Amino acid sequence: MTTPSQSPIAVHSYADGGTKRLLIDGHLVDASSGRTFESLNPATGERLALVAEGDAHDIDLAVAAARRAFDEGPWGTMKPFDRQTILSRFADLVESHHEEIARLDTLDMGMPLTRTMGNRRRSVGMMRFYAGLTTTLRGDTIENSIPGDFLTYSVKEPVGVVGAIIPWNNPHIAFIWKVGAALAAGCTVVLKPAEEASLSALLLGEMLLEAGLPAGVVNVVPGRGEVAGARLAAHPDVDKIAFTGSTATGQEILRASAGNLKRVTLELGGKSPNIVFADADLDRAAEGAAMAAFGNSGQVCSAGTRLFVERSIFDDFVARVAQVASALKVGNGLDLETQLGPLVSATQLERVTGYFRVGRDEGASVYAGGVQLTEGAYAKGFFVAPTIFTDVRDDMRVVNEEIFGPVVSATPFDDMDDVVRRANATTFGLGSGVWTRDVARAHHLAKSIRSGTVWVNCYNLMDPAVPFGGYKMSGYGREGGVHQVDEFLNVKSVWLRTD
Ligand code: NAI
Ligand code: MG
Repeated sequence: MTTPSQSPIAVHSYADGGTKRLLIDGHLVDASSGRTFESLNPATGERLALVAEGDAHDIDLAVAAARRAFDEGPWGTMKPFDRQTILSRFADLVESHHEEIARLDTLDMGMPLTRTMGNRRRSVGMMRFYAGLTTTLRGDTIENSIPGDFLTYSVKEPVGVVGAIIPWNNPHIAFIWKVGAALAAGCTVVLKPAEEASLSALLLGEMLLEAGLPAGVVNVVPGRGEVAGARLAAHPDVDKIAFTGSTATGQEILRASAGNLKRVTLELGGKSPNIVFADADLDRAAEGAAMAAFGNSGQVCSAGTRLFVERSIFDDFVARVAQVASALKVGNGLDLETQLGPLVSATQLERVTGYFRVGRDEGASVYAGGVQLTEGAYAKGFFVAPTIFTDVRDDMRVVNEEIFGPVVSATPFDDMDDVVRRANATTFGLGSGVWTRDVARAHHLAKSIRSGTVWVNCYNLMDPAVPFGGYKMSGYGREGGVHQVDEFLNVKSVWLRTD
């Protein structure tokens, strides 16, 4: 691994050390408690900004604003074309300010600039996709079999006030993913960003106002999960929660939602299998398997963290993946050469290095990595080396639990039935990968793996038009694709006697 160099451009107008305020009802306001929390750069430990810390009272104010905007404001009566115009303008702003947004996410959570900048097509594309969907909402005219003359039709109506709770691992994308679909459906939103990366959500919230979004339609309230997030999840006047994050928090949210039976969609964790057959293009597969596990320093919900390799090529293939890993440049994400940034926080560092110990204690071998990086410019940040465990058993914790760091366990398999059974022997079902040149085998696996996405000879590709989401404990509901907007709509049936 090469030593990271410090980038000269570590300043950002939105991360100038000053205080960032909550966005409620079209205004930037202090938290009602007056409290703030620090936002740190995980590559250097430096303070980027103080962020107003919203609590239950601020959430209540934001929900009230979102309710007014939905029931009384111009948003509820606005024609789809006019909503679309605002969303398109916002997409233009995201496009023209993308570098600023990308830099902010890099500073705030460490993801390399090459990756945040590389998301431009995705974030702008998502926003344009949602803007397009705004004018496509429709119900059905339905034949009924009731004697007499009755017309039946259905209409789709926005569910109302949406609470969006997002994680830190891809902040501005997560914002657009939730808010874009909710607005396309005509809902209003209270968004709580993650404590670790709140800044781009506030910046995007301001951009929505600049695009002409009426006050109160989108409110952004940073704060602690167990306080602000929990209040949003339990709030009696919130109609739906759209959540991305850990499975444990997803379960909490579901429990909290029971009070008013609000609708919930959950995009949760994973422990996705990535299966490599001996007949695959092994150069491509090795690169793909490494980035499936190590990309964004493994802080990806669909990361391919259980690598199954056909036994005849196991040793050679693992050596190739380790080769790719050793060439990856770990460092400050602002450096354009950096491929892997730091972990997001000291907590996440502790969690990941904890799993290094767990794996060793369980008897796994550390084939590569397995250490925190502490030399030179790494010293102040939260850096770890990309890590490969071998000699693993399927019942080990490092094979079953979501680590959310650049850690993969590699294990050989003997035949297709064996690997399908083992790949599916998990409580999760988010992503999966298959590497083979055999078309029949690819189809068989695509059908047999119980996960929301199967990537064949590629990994972690995402597109606004292609649905993404979980099976089993990876959650339910789909994001992306035309399916997503339905998650924010109610269906109303109308009966009309016509004789
Ligand atoms: P988390 O799931 O606790 O946090 C995600 C969001 O939920 C944040 O905005 C947080 O403030 C909020 N939240 C936390 N507790 C809440 C509650 N009781 N009610 C409502 N909202 C709440 O994840 P965290 O703590 O950041 O990371 C812990 C682990 O979770 C990671 O190591 C990783 O394994 C997993 N994770 C998975 C993600 C995924 O996309 N699958 C994303 C983030 C974390
Ligand atoms: Mg948490």
